[in-house]
Amino acid sequence: MARTLQFLLLLSATLLLAQTVYAEAATCSDCFIHSRAAYYPSSDENGTDTGRCGYGSFGATLNGGDVSAVSDLYRDGVGCGACYQVRCTNNNYCSDNGVTVVITDHGSSHNTDFILSRRAFGRMAQTTDAAASLLALGVVDIEYRRVSCTYPNKNITIKIDESSDYPYYLGFVIWYQQGRRDITAVQLCEAQNLACKLLDRSNGAVWTTNSPPSGPLSLRMLFSDEDGDETWVVPVNNIPNDWKAGQTHDTGVQVNS
Ligand SMILES: *[C@@H]1O[C@H](CO)[C@@H](O)[C@H](O)[C@H]1NC(C)=O
Ligand SMILES: *[C@@H]1O[C@H](CO)[C@@H](O)[C@H](O)[C@H]1NC(C)=O
Repeated sequence: MARTLQFLLLLSATLLLAQTVYAEAATCSDCFIHSRAAYYPSSDENGTDTGRCGYGSFGATLNGGDVSAVSDLYRDGVGCGACYQVRCTNNNYCSDNGVTVVITDHGSSHNTDFILSRRAFGRMAQTTDAAASLLALGVVDIEYRRVSCTYPNKNITIKIDESSDYPYYLGFVIWYQQGRRDITAVQLCEAQNLACKLLDRSNGAVWTTNSPPSGPLSLRMLFSDEDGDETWVVPVNNIPNDWKAGQTHDTGVQVNS
């Protein structure tokens, strides 16, 4: 009898423990996820000028060139600009912290979630020699997790796309958003009468409209976190009424990292 009771107690304790572990796994947004990573086959240290996020040459050198293409994490462009800590798992070569990369492109090879810039791939190593060994492997096992982006001394900045054609077509990308939330919608409002227009997400991080409102333009960005909480962020500075292709505009706001 005593033994049966002991057994039952042990069994229920084990079940409780299993439940707790399961609940943590299901809600653990800080946990590392196992995957694989490769690097861009070109000999360039940095990322690519033609990344699918639409950042252009900015996307190659952003974050000091520690950038990456992702496959599923691209999420139809919503994943552009997100930051991930990526560390390889070979104890002989890899550092504990790995590297933090910004997503600027879409792609996969050999069942990888990440195709890192060559520079970022090497930075997962403990030493320069270890980096050479890692690069020779080409594809390695990794762990990754989403982390906050940080851009010290930068406000969120709008770069008007070169394809823009004043006043008929406006496209832009959003640079330097800190934190780990996604920008899921963007509106442009006429600063005078506050008539607003939702923009289309085209080509990754590029927001576009075929008939932009006129006059000074007030921007609104919808930030969404992983729990589904949404907040509109309204910049201090308007986009001037005579905007031109290629210009950058400091919005005067930043979000917390
Ligand atoms: C890579 O990016 C870094 C940081 O912006 C820059 O200093 C360096 O010149 C770039 N390297 C190449 C080969 O473009
Ligand atoms: C960011 O915007 C604020 C105004 O909101 C401005 O005072 C500050 O100089 C800007 N920072 C940078 C680095 O441009």
